[in-house]
Amino acid sequence: MLEPRETLPSLADLRAETCARIDAMFETLLPVPDRPQARLWLAIRHATIGGGKRLRPLLVLLSGRLFGVAEEAALRAGLAVEAIHAHSLIHDDLPCMDDDDLRRGRPTVHRAFDEATALLAGDSLLALAFGVLADPETHPDAAIRSELVCSLSRAAGAAGMAGGQMIDIGTPGLTLDLAGVTQLQQLKTGALLAWSIEAGAILGRASETNRRRLALYAQCLGLIFQIADDLLDCEGEEAKAGKRVGKDEAAGKQTFVSLLGANGARHKARELLDEAVAHLAPFGADAALLAEVAEFALSRDH
Ligand code: IPE
Ligand code: IPE
Ligand code: MG
Ligand code: MG
Ligand code: MG
Repeated sequence: MLEPRETLPSLADLRAETCARIDAMFETLLPVPDRPQARLWLAIRHATIGGGKRLRPLLVLLSGRLFGVAEEAALRAGLAVEAIHAHSLIHDDLPCMDDDDLRRGRPTVHRAFDEATALLAGDSLLALAFGVLADPETHPDAAIRSELVCSLSRAAGAAGMAGGQMIDIGTPGLTLDLAGVTQLQQLKTGALLAWSIEAGAILGRASETNRRRLALYAQCLGLIFQIADDLLDCEGEEAKAGKRVGKDEAAGKQTFVSLLGANGARHKARELLDEAVAHLAPFGADAALLAEVAEFALSRDH
């Protein structure tokens, strides 16, 4: 008699499981101390526990699966990038940047606490990420840990996410063309998503060829993801998105939507989706969920 085929978890199941596991890890890492600085811990917990799609940890898991990486290691790298992501969101929402009062359906950190606490919570999360990666619990090989730390430092800093945020807040008189907006999005959003995919490959000691394939997929995914974010800002529903909408146009932000219109941006994202899936072809069925992530990145409503 044939054994029943093992049913593989769907992307939705895996996403829900990742959310629960990342929440539990932040809970363990962030007990509130009975000390004068308890308020800082409360602010960090506000920014990290109980919200967000956890797409970056999910990407580390899925990319790691291609190379047999243990889930525990992938989740620790996922937690690190999620900490940097939370740091970037806290700072992105500050009055000196996007001046937002709603994030993940809750008040932003500077609204729930105050600006100084928000700055410190963001700083603390940036530091936490590198501590998690450098801990031998993440991987026994120091060379792998060091590669994770160095690559995340590039992705998060002035050559990556922070540099993209600099372009995004605008340089007086600088008008971006399509190539300029592409570079902006690849830095502000793409760099951390790309690192998430690269982290699985680093942990799994993937070949250069496979890393290059995944980097090409990641480049498309970052753009798809940010186009969807920009579409949500102009067409989305605040209640579903959990953040204010209609802010990019009001702030004169340069996005794919402002350059190409909503339909043009959607068309561009669909082209990128085909390209992303094509880059995964050499991995065959093993990369099916990564292809689904790219579809989700575009079709999401939050
Ligand atoms: C929002 O990122 C900010 C961007 C980089 C566009 P996400 O859409 O991943 O936010 P969460 O983590 O799910 O809240
Ligand atoms: C934020 O981009 C990107 C980073 C935090 C690095 P947005 O400003 O478009 O993100 P939302 O729309 O506030 O989530
Ligand atoms: Mg912003
Ligand atoms: Mg913003
Ligand atoms: Mg946005």
